[in-house]
Amino acid sequence: MEQLLQNTEDKVPVKFSSIGKTLIYVTGGLGIGVSVICIPFVSPALRKVCLPYVPATTEQLAGVTKALSGRCGRLLDVGSGDGRIVFTAATLGFKADGVELNPWLVYYSRIVALFNTRYHNTKFYRCNLWTFDLNPYENIVIFGVEQMMKDFEKKVLEETSNGTVIIACRFPLPNMKPIETIGHGIDTVWKYVVKK
Ligand SMILES: C[S@@+](CC[C@H](N)C(=O)[O-])C[C@H]1O[C@@H](n2cnc3c(N)ncnc32)[C@H](O)[C@@H]1O
Ligand SMILES: *[C@@H]1O[C@H](CO)[C@@H](O)[C@H](O)[C@H]1NC(C)=O
Repeated sequence: MEQLLQNTEDKVPVKFSSIGKTLIYVTGGLGIGVSVICIPFVSPALRKVCLPYVPATTEQLAGVTKALSGRCGRLLDVGSGDGRIVFTAATLGFKADGVELNPWLVYYSRIVALFNTRYHNTKFYRCNLWTFDLNPYENIVIFGVEQMMKDFEKKVLEETSNGTVIIACRFPLPNMKPIETIGHGIDTVWKYVVKK
């Protein structure tokens, strides 16, 4: 990735070069640094759930891809991390967005999108997932933690429309019945359809 940023920096005019340098510096530590950062939530609105940055595995990405077959339209990755699920979805033809609390992961995702024409239709919001409106999306992907899934399921049922597909990685929604379960162990992906 440093390589990618350095290469792209060469082609970009002066305007981006200092940002590029900062990014090279930041991304250097990102891999190790961010994976151990756990955002402590203080405000009740943010809930007392710690959702750390754990990137989706290749198996999970394959599971998400499979769960998305036959689907189209808008997609949201909730807690988009480095953007890998959003980019996978964009490659599949979705109008894909990510919402992510960690600003560095948002900047990183935006820069990757900026330098890849096939990702130009993606959008990354630096925003708290609990205050982000899920309604515009026909497809929602979440790689969460167990403690948040009950509240997330409630949010989904309140905000999404009939027919919305929810794809959960690693931890399932507690009450909804999946229409498909892909993979096993930590790489399990569950697919749900909202019925209203
Ligand atoms: C388990 S990681 C998944 C990353 C990405 N979706 C993937 O699969 O590679 C969860 C992400 O959610 C982000 N996150 C944690 N709390 C959040 C919140 N309240 N709002 C938005 N994003 C949040 C973390 O920073 C982290 O990047
Ligand atoms: C909900 O969506 C399903 C397809 O996913 C459709 O068969 C059903 O008629 C819809 N229900 C309502 C109330 O619109």
